[in-house]
Amino acid sequence: MDRVLIVDDEKGMRDFLSIMLKKESYAVAAAESVERALQALSAGDVDLIISDISMPGQSGLDLLKASKAASPDTPVIMITAYASTESAIEALKLGAYDYIIKPFDVEELKAVVRNALEKRRLEHENRALKRELKEKLKFDELVGDSPRMKEVTDLITKIAPTNSTVLISGESGTGKELVARAIHAASARAERPFVSINCGALPDELLESELFGHVRGSFTGAVTAKKGLFEVADGGSIFLDEIGDTSPAMQVKLLRVLQERRIRRVGGTEESEVNVRVLAATNQDLETLVRDRRFREDLYYRINVIQIRMPALREKPEDIRPLALHFLVKYARIMGKRITRISDEALRCLTDHAWPGNVRELENVIERAVALESSDAISVDSLAADVRSGSRGVEAFPVALVDGGIDLERQLETLREHFMEEALRRANGIQTKAAELLGMSFRSFRYFAKKYHLLDGRRDSSRVAAN
Ligand SMILES: Nc1ncnc2c1ncn2[C@@H]1O[C@H](COP(=O)(O)OP(=O)(O)OP(=O)(O)O)[C@@H](O)[C@H]1O
Ligand SMILES: [Mg+2]
Repeated sequence: MDRVLIVDDEKGMRDFLSIMLKKESYAVAAAESVERALQALSAGDVDLIISDISMPGQSGLDLLKASKAASPDTPVIMITAYASTESAIEALKLGAYDYIIKPFDVEELKAVVRNALEKRRLEHENRALKRELKEKLKFDELVGDSPRMKEVTDLITKIAPTNSTVLISGESGTGKELVARAIHAASARAERPFVSINCGALPDELLESELFGHVRGSFTGAVTAKKGLFEVADGGSIFLDEIGDTSPAMQVKLLRVLQERRIRRVGGTEESEVNVRVLAATNQDLETLVRDRRFREDLYYRINVIQIRMPALREKPEDIRPLALHFLVKYARIMGKRITRISDEALRCLTDHAWPGNVRELENVIERAVALESSDAISVDSLAADVRSGSRGVEAFPVALVDGGIDLERQLETLREHFMEEALRRANGIQTKAAELLGMSFRSFRYFAKKYHLLDGRRDSSRVAAN
């Protein structure tokens, strides 16, 4: 039985509506003031509110605002005495379901009540379905059921519904951002934005205006006012990536937001409240940074309410195979290729490799292998050179002619690819520099880099994203 709360200061109207709605088999409660109505609301058993707009003391609009804040799903129908009054329009803006003008037609009121409750029911169902689906999708995405990953997913399930700040630590490429997204998706904030920003990639002034926004003319180039990400993420979560890379000045500003939950736009004077859950990540050891006085201790304690430590891939070798297959399916689909397996020999190389770049490195290796492979199974030949030689690295290259002979051309190719990869890494991806390190001409470096697909799959980490 749906429960309707009638709010009107006139007893005659309350009684009339009560009798009418009870006849329609609703459970009815009545309140003569906004204060009383709010008490009934906080008791929690109201599915619909019908309220007069003008009442002595607090008005129906006050009730509307309060009820939207306390239980946004409960539809509110307003009753007003005058046609198209400003307050009726205002009520719709504030989220009222509809308004009815006195004197009203009883059948009309019944229809509005029915529709409001039906809409509420559908929305509820929809939301439940969506949440279920989303949760499933997210946790499907976090591949791996090694004991270490099991700990991580258990912790996510436990903490997601809370509003606590979470610090996600771990080496590069271990899945920190993925975990942040999973926490958001499994929380009550899932329908609101998840906003991510790399704090290490921007200079202070830019980072500040990205995070907090700015008012018009606050600095050269600020031709219009701009919302900061804390505002964009309102009701949702913000992911502060590489928080260990922030400057001392920035750390003070972040501490203030975390303590006071208020922000001020750059150049602005007004403060506004923010309702955002903070998720932070670092691939540095924050405790060491604190000890070296490069990270504020008070900020560290603010962030480190709950910590999730992401295991390196080498600490969960059982997950290599399922992850590799997961990425195989993903990239085969994207590239439209019929590759369904990984050969035993290739799998051995994958499990032998040390994976300094963790899951991201594995993903890149599989992406590249799928691109190069022409059979229906990933073979050793399509793996990157350093993976092909397992974790043993260059030591695995033969220095003497073994009994069975060697394939010199292939060994040389492998060796070249290995050194080029290493050089690119040291040169931070700058090809001319990498070529120089190897005494190669830029032309020939570029030729082989293309041949080995060394430039594919490089990801831009200096990204500011919102969805
Ligand atoms: N358990 C996992 N299951 C599926 N994919 C994963 C898993 N862990 C990581 N990945 C994938 O690996 C890639 C790297 O993950 P992510 O960006 O979350 O790492 P990170 O820890 O934030 O790295 P960095 O410190 O370099 O920013 C992403 O494409 C992500 O989808
Ligand atoms: Mg990341």
